[in-house]
Amino acid sequence: MSKTIYLNHAGTSWPKPRVVVEAVERAFNTTPDQWLESFERSHTSVCQYFGVANSEQLLLTPGCTSSLATAIANVELPSGSRVVTSGWEHHAVHAPLMKLQDRGYHVDTIAANATTPFDLNELEDILKAGKVGLVAITAACNVTGELLPINDTIALAHRYDVMVLIDAAQIAGWIDLDLDALDADLVAFGGHKAMQSPWGIGGLYVNDSARLRCISSQCELPTNRNTETVRGNLFSKRLEYCDVGSVDQFSLAGLAAATEWLSDSDRQLRLSVARRQTERLRAVLERQDRAVLYGNQHANSRLPTIAFEITNQSSGTIAELLKQQGVIASGGLQCSPQSHRSLGTDQRGVVRLSVGVAQSDSDIDQAIERIDAALKPLGRTA
Ligand SMILES: Cc1ncc(COP(=O)(O)O)c(C=O)c1O
Repeated sequence: MSKTIYLNHAGTSWPKPRVVVEAVERAFNTTPDQWLESFERSHTSVCQYFGVANSEQLLLTPGCTSSLATAIANVELPSGSRVVTSGWEHHAVHAPLMKLQDRGYHVDTIAANATTPFDLNELEDILKAGKVGLVAITAACNVTGELLPINDTIALAHRYDVMVLIDAAQIAGWIDLDLDALDADLVAFGGHKAMQSPWGIGGLYVNDSARLRCISSQCELPTNRNTETVRGNLFSKRLEYCDVGSVDQFSLAGLAAATEWLSDSDRQLRLSVARRQTERLRAVLERQDRAVLYGNQHANSRLPTIAFEITNQSSGTIAELLKQQGVIASGGLQCSPQSHRSLGTDQRGVVRLSVGVAQSDSDIDQAIERIDAALKPLGRTA
């Protein structure tokens, strides 16, 4: 069988850079006396990469789902508050928001319209009406790759003193993030997509402005206080590692190595290179008269991701045909029924092709031939 062409990087990145694999291997051989130092070194590297000056503000988590669940569960929302979200959310945002709704909070979803995936005028109308406690949106739709206006959303919500949670799962690794400067209250990300680390590691940035009401973890008893006082101090403003679980030190070592790899000057143009490659793939699909492409067609409005369907064919069938040609794509709902509802594809799903950070041009050449070969028997190509 010829080489596998992996085009599911929006799902998870593969293969991982060699330096990442080596860092994970080294971490396995780290002895207990070095664990704390190696944790702190890796944590510092991750903070530096994300522009976080105070490492206490970047909690390491098992992944983006865990970061989002922790953030949403602990955010301080007065009773009767509203939460605003987009129509492009991954299940990892949607599910905890639905739990808030079950607890009596109101969730407003701003539907996409023809000109923007997230209408800021509509957001402002909702903010003006009052009682909004949180705006929780993804930075990019994981199905189409379309980018949402996160900077403007943060600025607007802050004018109304409303907190903002950003799901950065898709953009982390593609777009250099300076989290202190971004000024969102909470930002969640995972390591295993464009960040290039193994599964099992992610982060939650908690700005000082984030209003949290956490059950205090009290891992360590202060020596000069009695247990009674500690019990009385039930709520705290800061999330602790007890709230998310033990950090996977092996994956963390991989993530730290990945931050260096991503910062290499060779990879400075990674997003524009991948966008050009994506445009070549898109051109093949545009020649197929039964292909329907979804999402904003401007490359600069998207991550290097394409969502498409072939009329009268299930997305699973097309993904399987591509797999038989050695092209790995994603077929189905991509864990984002909300996005599919917005696209009108919730009954059929789509096929998603997503290019990786270090994808070679020869991969793209071969993918083009193989996609053509897989789709040709299904209908005329123009
Ligand atoms: C937009 C978005 N949010 C959250 C997640 C969940 O990320 P993780 O796998 O790190 O839990 C994903 C993963 O597909 C995603 O694409």
